[in-house]
Amino acid sequence: MLTKIFKTNPSNPDTKAIEEAAQIIKGGGLVAFPTETVYGLGADATDKDAAMKIYAAKGRPSDNPLIVHISDMDMLDIVASGDNKKAKLLAKKLWPGPITFILKKNDIIPKETTGGLNTVAVRMPGQKTALTFIRACGTPIAAPSANISGRPSPTKAAHVIEDFDGKIEGIIDDGQSDIGVESTIIDLTSDIPTILRKGYIDSDTVESVLGEKVLDESSGQNDKRPKAPGMKYKHYAPKGSLVFVTGKGSIPDFINKIVKDKGEPEAAVICCRENLAYYNLKNRYCLGSKDNEEELLKNLYDTLRQLDTDGIEICYCEDFSDCKRNDIISERLLRASGNNIIICDTTS
Ligand code: TXA
Ligand code: MG
Repeated sequence: MLTKIFKTNPSNPDTKAIEEAAQIIKGGGLVAFPTETVYGLGADATDKDAAMKIYAAKGRPSDNPLIVHISDMDMLDIVASGDNKKAKLLAKKLWPGPITFILKKNDIIPKETTGGLNTVAVRMPGQKTALTFIRACGTPIAAPSANISGRPSPTKAAHVIEDFDGKIEGIIDDGQSDIGVESTIIDLTSDIPTILRKGYIDSDTVESVLGEKVLDESSGQNDKRPKAPGMKYKHYAPKGSLVFVTGKGSIPDFINKIVKDKGEPEAAVICCRENLAYYNLKNRYCLGSKDNEEELLKNLYDTLRQLDTDGIEICYCEDFSDCKRNDIISERLLRASGNNIIICDTTS
């Protein structure tokens, strides 16, 4: 299959290209499109055959539901049942934007889209091109992150091309994603709103909008079966081995020593700019300044993919413990490492 690339401009979406991409969705096909978090692999959320094509293309287990993307509040009432008071309160402040609500689903959304669940994940993405595209499709768009299952999420069209060239009908190339990590997911179907996946919007923001406390079950540790089914699967992993280093003392000194002691001349490190010069490793990947969380988040998945492109077999990463969005940076890195942790102590 020929994958058509539709080049757009984030500040002024090219309506002709987007209209053409929308025709593919209307015909039951798959189009990857940009959002402010990561690129999504889109299909008509109301069409079960189209939804199933997403699972097949990604190699995604069929019990892992898809997020349904909408372009206006009328669509919310079409896809979700009930009055959705809390969702609407949050939406007023935080949509379009990087937060997804779990709600009771309406019949128009087939179980194929929701991985067999009676609930539906809904998000209005905050990117002009995404909203223009959904509007042009005239239907809610089911979209997981546009990566082969298990690989780092895509923050550039080039990442989507790496995984899906020749396997899907189209890709809308709108440049680099603004944020670079996925949306926060909050379950609003139970009495107490519950965070199922940490994302760009933190729990303090949600609590201040709702005026009530929220639970955080994003680690999945309180539950035998994590509530966001996707959280139990391997994520973001590079092909080589990634080791997460945390603890006391100088992480650069510690990593330099391990690499020397183990005789790993090709080993790589992922670090912040402030520490870059302290590593005497051949391969060094800088995520950005530890004081600039936006830069760190933007570069995170691109760097994990770069390890594969460069054929890195072993990579150590810092814990980014003194960075503002350490909650999501370290969580994504830990998952990418498959919880492969080494504790550093250079204080004694
Ligand atoms: O930022 C994002 O959220 C991106 C962009 C494309 O919108 N999408 C994304 O989708 O990250 P995906 O499929 O990679 O991750 C969605 C997560 C999965 O862990 C899935 O299990 C969970 O959301 N999820 C979806 N529907 C759910 C539901 N009804 N109940 C609980 N969890 C759900
Ligand atoms: Mg994903």
